[in-house]
Formats: sequence, structure tokens, C-alpha cells
Amino acid sequence: MKVLAVNSSARTGDVSKTEIMLNYLVQGMQEQGADVEVINLRKKKIRYCIGCFTCWTKTPGTCVHKDDMTHELFPKYRDCDICILATPLFHYTVNAQMKAFIERTLPMVLPFFELRDGVTRHPPRHESPSIVILSVAGFPELSVFDQIRSYANYLYKSKLIAEIYRTSSELLSQPSAQKMLEDIFQATAQGGRELVKHQKISVDTLARMTAPITDFERMAPIGNLAWQTCINEGVTMGEFQKRNMIPRPESIETFLPVMRMGFNPSKTGDVKAVIQFNFSGAVKGHCYLAIEHSSLKAETGPAKKPDLTIDTPFELWMDILTGKADGQQMFMEQKYTASGNLELLIKFREFFGN
Ligand SMILES: Cc1cc2nc3c(=O)[nH]c(=O)nc-3n(C[C@H](O)[C@H](O)[C@H](O)COP(=O)(O)O)c2cc1C
Repeated sequence: MKVLAVNSSARTGDVSKTEIMLNYLVQGMQEQGADVEVINLRKKKIRYCIGCFTCWTKTPGTCVHKDDMTHELFPKYRDCDICILATPLFHYTVNAQMKAFIERTLPMVLPFFELRDGVTRHPPRHESPSIVILSVAGFPELSVFDQIRSYANYLYKSKLIAEIYRTSSELLSQPSAQKMLEDIFQATAQGGRELVKHQKISVDTLARMTAPITDFERMAPIGNLAWQTCINEGVTMGEFQKRNMIPRPESIETFLPVMRMGFNPSKTGDVKAVIQFNFSGAVKGHCYLAIEHSSLKAETGPAKKPDLTIDTPFELWMDILTGKADGQQMFMEQKYTASGNLELLIKFREFFGN
């Protein structure tokens, strides 16, 4: 079985969530014996369709443009058994590179009109390969894919053998989501194997591949903080991620989800401890972090029996958290105080270093 995987993401490696999902799918297909070729559209020269219809008249089946689409991609598309169209969701549909690719498959059909299932269509010049659409999107709701789903189904009809829509894509490289991601990635490889074996993906496997990983309530506070931090620091989101920057909390309510996200259960072992913060200055109030059996409870208000109590100006602790101030030095200079089990203070960065 010949598979052509067309990836239209402009990004690469771990930064490209399209590529992450596609790699697992391709891995599964290869394990099942398929001959898979991955084409990255960002490396190809594909001119826009100019609507001259030369491919329908003067040179039937061949586009007028002399570029990578005509010389390489179109013949590969025409001759493969399955074509995976892997695209980031941009403005609720395929991105521009993918749309340019799709438009340039016009020589696949003849110019004539025929009525099929009550609608006007062009008859095929070549039989279309089976199509798999894979798309990733930043938003958490599945409905974000409504337009691409409708488009893909209208365009490819019965040739569309699988639709893989991965929400909350930007979490795909998030260490704190690794456990959930493991199953998504395993299921995606399984989906690849099923595609080669049965030309479809089972309902169960697809549900695992596309399982929700977050929702608006969990995503928005952290996401908004991260964007605000980028704006304040004058860095791109790519630089923010590369430098392992931390979204700077602006309130106790946003401090708590940042701590939940940063919590590293692999470092806490069997530690059972409660750390309380008494914040002063611009943001006043109490909150606590209760670590038990590698799980974390992060709540507002004072704790009953804290093992460590930190009294600090809010902004100072946020400076320490985001690496703008040295925690040890600030402690020596008595800019904040800590009482109780000071070992917890020393280990703080380790426990919340995700
Ligand atoms: C121009 C642009 C438009 C986007 N439009 C949407 C959108 O409509 N819905 C959505 O959920 N995410 C949207 N996103 C987020 C991307 O789908 C998301 O970041 C995805 O992971 C990008 O794929 P990549 O990681 O392979 O680059 C958009 C991103 C960009 C840059």
C-alpha cells in the first residue's frame, strides 16, 4: 500500500503539533507494512491555481505551472492508495498551503458536469485516492472543526476514510499532560495500523486519539497569563517556550493553576507536606499547596496545619517564580520570611519545576 502524507504545517519538530500527530500515525502505518512518503509542503514550491483550465483543455490532466506540484506532488497524489492531508486548523479550516495543494489537484477531474446524488459534480479523470484528514487546533471544543469537517466530507464524499481532529493541540508537548498524551499517541499509532489493515479507524481508537485534554476553564487562565507574559516581556510564544518561561501570575487565583501546572509528582515521592503562602503588598491573601502521595491540592485560604509558612510580598514571590530574583538571596536579605520545615523551601523549585 502506497501512502502519501502531505503535511502543511509551517512549523517543525516538537513545535508542530500537526507533525507530532502525523509522526505517530505514519509510524503505525509503517509498522503495518505501508510504504509511506511524507511531504512537507513548506519545502515545496506550489503556485496558486490561476483558473485557466489549461489542465482541462490544452494539456488534459497536466497543469500549466511548472513547479513541484506538477512535476512531483500531483503524480504522487494521483498514484497513491491513501493520501493523508495533515493541516493545522487556521481560521477554522485548512491552512493556505493545504488549500493551494487541494486546488492544484483540479486535473484529477474532467471538465464536464454530471449529477451525482442530486448535486452537480465533475466526473473523475483519475480515481481519487482514499483520503485521511488530520487536523490540530488550539481551542478545546471539538466544534472548532465543524467547517473543516463539512468541507472535507463535501469534497471527498465516500473517499474520505478517516477524520482525525485533535483539539487543545498546544498541550501536546506539555510535560504535565504526559500521562494522558501517552494514550493519545499510542492510539494514534494504532489508528495508523488500523488504516492499513481495514482502511478505517475504529470508533474506540478514534475516541482515544481525540480524547479531550482540557477545557476552557482550565486552559484560559494559564493561556491568558502566558500570552500576557509574552507581551510584557516582548518575546514570541516560541521564545517563551524555548526559554522555559513561566506565565507570571497576577493574582492568587492565577498563581494556583500555575503551581498545579508546574507540579512535578516524580520529584515529590512520598512527601506529605503543606506549604502556606501569606501574600502581602499589591496582592494580599492566603493560599496553600498540599502535597500528598504525589498529588497536589492548591487552594485559597489558610491551611489548618502548614509544615512551611512563607510570608512574602506577592510580586517578590512572582519574581522568584519567574527567575527574575534569586530565592535564596532574597531569603538571606530577609525580603521574605519562611518558618517551619525549611527543607521544603529548598526543594520548592524541584517540586514545582515542570
Ligand atoms: C493564523 C492562525 C490561525 C489559527 N486559527 C485557529 C482556529 O481557527 N482555531 C483554533 O482552534 N486554533 C487556531 N490556531 C491555532 C493552531 O491551530 C494551533 O496552534 C496548531 O497547533 C498549529 O499547528 P502546528 O502546531 O502544526 O503549527 C491558529 C493559529 C494560527 C497561527
